[in-house]
Amino acid sequence: MIKFQNISKIYHSSKTPVVALKDVSFEIKQGEFVSIVGKSGAGKTTLVKLLISEEKPSRGEIFFKGKKIGEMCPADIQYLRKRIGVVHQDYKLLTSKNVKENVEYIMQVIGASDKDISRDVPQVLEMVGLLDRQTNFPEELSGGEKQRLAIARALIHRPEVIVADEPTGNLDLYNTFEIINLLKKIHGLGTTIILATHNREIIERLGHRVITLEKGKIIRDDQEGKFIL
Ligand SMILES: Nc1ncnc2c1ncn2[C@@H]1O[C@H](COP(=O)(O)OP(=O)(O)OP(=O)(O)O)[C@@H](O)[C@H]1O
Ligand SMILES: [Mg+2]
Repeated sequence: MIKFQNISKIYHSSKTPVVALKDVSFEIKQGEFVSIVGKSGAGKTTLVKLLISEEKPSRGEIFFKGKKIGEMCPADIQYLRKRIGVVHQDYKLLTSKNVKENVEYIMQVIGASDKDISRDVPQVLEMVGLLDRQTNFPEELSGGEKQRLAIARALIHRPEVIVADEPTGNLDLYNTFEIINLLKKIHGLGTTIILATHNREIIERLGHRVITLEKGKIIRDDQEGKFIL
């Protein structure tokens, strides 16, 4: 479903070029739950950005369902971003909109009908357990609730893949496992999950495939949850 083929990414924005990914190759099949682990700066967020074409690789080719992302036209990219829901490291919530409006907005920008919006939004809010917080603003939510709202926003297009970039970074243990259980629930419904994290405990409990990045290179790809750094 997703294939990275000899991907390198070099950022040239600063004086000295930064090599964020070095000749990275892997494949993710439909329905997998894959964790990408690695220390800060290992290249996890870069990998996510390349996947949704927010950044372009310096070398190599990325495929989504057999199609080269590098050769996609704007309409294809739009389709890609609907099929892959991203939960960003920094939530990316709209602070001037309440919980319900944060989710509605995602549908409005693609021109969804009011009927579809009023059917789908309560469904995803229910899914993430925020139905009773609909009129609260992001600043009134706990870290775990904000993260669940970010997941609701990623879920609204019923994507085939959810990519969660360090979704538990700022959370305590209780909220961390609530988020992980939510991702497991979404996975159970047939969605492919890619989870970038540096939380050892999560990985050991999940028992799924783990790809380990170190300084932009894949150093391990284990079928069953091992966290070795
Ligand atoms: N826009 C950019 N310009 C220059 N360098 C960048 C840019 N974005 C990321 N980098 C560098 O690329 C490397 C990989 O960054 P990336 O954000 O992918 O790491 P990460 O694994 O997500 O880290 P963290 O766990 O801290 O989120 C780092 O050295 C980072 O400083
Ligand atoms: Mg990151």
